Amino acid sequence: MRRKLVAGNWKMHGNHRANAELLAGIIGVRPFGCDVAVCVPYPYLSETAVALAGSDLRWGAQDCSAHEPGAYTGEVSAAMLAEFGCRYVIVGHSERRQYHAETDQLVADKAKAALACGITPIVCVGETLAQREAGQTEAVVKRQLSAVIHALGHCAGEMVVAYEPVWAIGTGRVATPDQAQSVHALLRAQLGAATAHAGDMKILYGGSMKPDNAASLLSQPDIDGGLIGGASLKAADFAAICRAAG
Ligand code: 13P
Repeated sequence: MRRKLVAGNWKMHGNHRANAELLAGIIGVRPFGCDVAVCVPYPYLSETAVALAGSDLRWGAQDCSAHEPGAYTGEVSAAMLAEFGCRYVIVGHSERRQYHAETDQLVADKAKAALACGITPIVCVGETLAQREAGQTEAVVKRQLSAVIHALGHCAGEMVVAYEPVWAIGTGRVATPDQAQSVHALLRAQLGAATAHAGDMKILYGGSMKPDNAASLLSQPDIDGGLIGGASLKAADFAAICRAAG
């Protein structure tokens, strides 16, 4: 049985006071019966590491550079994240693909850079509403995942995959458990053709997961946790999702 993972993606939210309250609120109600992580903006990695030190909660970042350290103004290397104790880094989030023109190849290179530094990449894939309506969901997510599988080679089994249908992100319009499960199953089949570890790999669902819909999504056989946006900013909601996963 795969242990579930619930990861919060704070996106570009937070300030010192709100972060402290949020992290204290989560710590105060653990343990949970699943792995739990928060992926925070870079400037807050340090205080997050201090707040979570000694707990079983993990932390990570929301992006990393594909490059080795060097002359890349504004970039943050995976090696730097490793120094902050990051366990995870999200790569290929649809907001980065959409607003920062990240290609499948760049996402794959970032995943590879993360793994090389001992950080587990949470690789996001997902189709837009137009792609879903045009019947392209399977082709799109397979293409996105295939680039990463190719780049990681025999290490592909070490990543976490997150299926995040773009039309469900921040919209309140959640995929039904059946819709999500069918994409997760085909992603696992694709992983299975590439690595012997596909049965142990975590495939998270993300997109308007909330306390009231988490249990039905998380009960699906191939949904191994959640990547949570809005609800990860409220300790009670995030904790409720973690409990549903445990
Ligand atoms: P919401 O939970 O706000 O829909 O965001 C999901 C997401 O993008 C997590 O990465």
